[in-house]
Amino acid sequence: MSVLVVGSVNADLTVRAERIPAPGETVLGGDATVSPGGKGANQAVAAALAGARVALCGAVGRDAFREAALRGLTRAGVDLGHLHTVDAPTGLALITVSPEGENAITVASGANAHVTPSHLPEGWGSFTHLLLQGELPPEVTRGAARRAHAAGLTVVLNAAPARDPDPDLLAHTGHLIVNEHEVAVLAGGAGEEAARSLLRRGPQTVTVTLGGEGSLTVTPEATHRLPAHPVAPVDTTGAGDTFCGVLVAWRSSGRPLPEALRAATVAAALACTRSGAQDAMPSLAEIGAILTGTR
Ligand code: RIB
Repeated sequence: MSVLVVGSVNADLTVRAERIPAPGETVLGGDATVSPGGKGANQAVAAALAGARVALCGAVGRDAFREAALRGLTRAGVDLGHLHTVDAPTGLALITVSPEGENAITVASGANAHVTPSHLPEGWGSFTHLLLQGELPPEVTRGAARRAHAAGLTVVLNAAPARDPDPDLLAHTGHLIVNEHEVAVLAGGAGEEAARSLLRRGPQTVTVTLGGEGSLTVTPEATHRLPAHPVAPVDTTGAGDTFCGVLVAWRSSGRPLPEALRAATVAAALACTRSGAQDAMPSLAEIGAILTGTR
């Protein structure tokens, strides 16, 4: 019934520009905004807004960006009992968003890079699901997956950003969620064959998110292809995080995989219709209204 997220917490410094600059290019943009972000915090907020009980383990600094980074987590009621304060600046993401809603992100990891396995919780018994991403040091993510797996939790890994495959981490993962770029890095290919090849490395379920093309999910027994929910994107930042958080929230409440995938798909689409990451995430009521056809 309860989800632990071990992941990054950032403040997002975002500017909309007429295009994403090419190397060596300067483009003029609009006013900058500072909003809460970080893949870990984003996924925790998405899961909490979707109705799950959520705790986050991670770190922030003591600086001016701390408050902005924590605003969404606090507002969504995420348990911050495992959040640590370290002697490093709060993580900061520098984001450029194009008129089409696409983005380019550079992360200054700061405090996130100072999380160590000693920061992980002692007991895992109050959680059913562990949700991980790739923005903390690999030994922390791997250590969390190992301990959670041994304690009987379902480990869900969103392998973003893409890194070299970690066989030990994959071996302790129950559900792997990747996008087209990440599946290419992990499996060296695309499509159902690549997704199925990852099933042989540990996970029982692999989901590949395909942006405007929806998603593909494979298990040893089944294949689920879901079209995207059509929207006009304003800002896609955090859409993948919304997908992961909502999927885990629905799975942790015992809903079947196809139902959880539909809710995650709708939620990710809604998150693209507004600016920001956590600030754009839909409520449970908004997701439900679309799923039941009342909106
Ligand atoms: O996935 C989007 C997130 O990536 C942003 O909120 C940014 O902080 C980076 O972590």
